[in-house]
Amino acid sequence: MIEVDEIDVSYGNIQVLWDLSFHISEEDSVVAIVGPNGAGKSTLLRVMSGLHPVDDGRVTAWGEDVAGMDPSEVVRQGFVHVSEERNLFGDMTVRENLEMGAYTKRAELRETMREVFELFPILEERQEQRAGSMSGGQQQMLAIGRGLMARPKILALDEPSEGLAPQITTRVFEKIEEISDEVTVLLVEQHVHKALGLAERAYLLENGEMVTEDTGAALLESEHIKQAYL
Ligand SMILES: Nc1ncnc2c1ncn2[C@@H]1O[C@H](COP(=O)(O)OP(=O)(O)O)[C@@H](O)[C@H]1O
Ligand SMILES: [Mg+2]
Repeated sequence: MIEVDEIDVSYGNIQVLWDLSFHISEEDSVVAIVGPNGAGKSTLLRVMSGLHPVDDGRVTAWGEDVAGMDPSEVVRQGFVHVSEERNLFGDMTVRENLEMGAYTKRAELRETMREVFELFPILEERQEQRAGSMSGGQQQMLAIGRGLMARPKILALDEPSEGLAPQITTRVFEKIEEISDEVTVLLVEQHVHKALGLAERAYLLENGEMVTEDTGAALLESEHIKQAYL
């Protein structure tokens, strides 16, 4: 369970998140945060991961204050964030990238890799290939697979469809739906339609503020969303 309680967040003296509250737990299947470029979605994920501090308010992961935690400790607790940059090691093989993802869960590495290969057979076929030589869609699958190697309770995916062709995006979303049977997914997307279609609960983030929280279905029907995003 991650609880974000009335946080203010800045870069230098420019404030980008305002009095923002949010929560997600293992009881959730898919929660979406949608909103335009620059709204603060990635910043929120960075704060939840212990990568960026709050000026005010509090973030707790399973009851512990994230402010006092090393980012690897947040991962160990069960929150894993696949960033929008993907951050793969391009010169390393697919298998080596997956192994890196298991740095907090070495003991279960073989078993988890088997599960990841079951979900993404392409990664097993290409396991000796350099990550940097894979297609965009394959790299996104690898980034998600690497996140799963840490055996998260909550997996956050930042713009998983970014830069992918529509057909590939559809495939990635099918995989996300499959993952959500086992692991809670926090989906951050500009691809509003697809994200809200999957999400039970969804938030609209605009200009650093959570402006709406509702079911994904209800947000899809809202006039504001229809006019601004669909
Ligand atoms: N490293 C940074 N330094 C300064 N400003 C940043 C940095 N990263 C993001 N910002 C600014 O913070 C705001 C929120 O950005 P971001 O969290 O990336 O939004 P989103 O993910 O919704 O597109 C934007 O105005 C962006 O320009
Ligand atoms: Mg972003």
